[in-house]
Amino acid sequence: MTGSEPRPDGLRPGEVSVEAPVRADAALVFIGRIATPWRRRADCPRQGDPADGPECRLHLDPLWTAALDGIEAPVRLQILYWMHEARRDLVRLAPRGHDDSRPRGPFALRAPTRPNPIASSIVALVGMERGVAPVLIVRGLDCLDGTPLLDIKPWRG
Ligand SMILES: C[S@@+](CC[C@H](N)C(=O)[O-])C[C@H]1O[C@@H](n2cnc3c(N)ncnc32)[C@H](O)[C@@H]1O
Repeated sequence: MTGSEPRPDGLRPGEVSVEAPVRADAALVFIGRIATPWRRRADCPRQGDPADGPECRLHLDPLWTAALDGIEAPVRLQILYWMHEARRDLVRLAPRGHDDSRPRGPFALRAPTRPNPIASSIVALVGMERGVAPVLIVRGLDCLDGTPLLDIKPWRG
């Protein structure tokens, strides 16, 4: 090992894990799945770009069709999603690819690795398909194909 390779427990030098609680306090409902071009975490952008990112598709469960009333393109939306492949037990992370990769706490970073792996992005809504299962076409995401969708909110920033 050179010292910069991950250890067998998946940690990089300087990283610290804890025994994360198994009890859950909140029961979230996934309202759909996000289809993106990225199959590996390393291929995802660090942050999405609503001006220039590739089109991604939010596939909603048909149950929530009426909940989309009032949304019309073009508009900016805040998308909340669940980073389902992220570790949840680290209290110190060595951020990959940052100018400054010194280990820090997850609350000081926007990394997916955190106790509750909730992510948010501001996206541009570029289109909508109102079929049996509604699809929102957006630019500005940075997540893996198949990432669970938690919520959609208007962005007033
Ligand atoms: C730095 S996070 C930013 C997420 C969000 N824009 C935010 O700021 O809350 C984006 C990175 O998370 C990783 N990632 C994407 N989808 C993921 C998933 N479903 N599970 C775990 N990690 C994921 C990829 O490495 C991607 O570059």
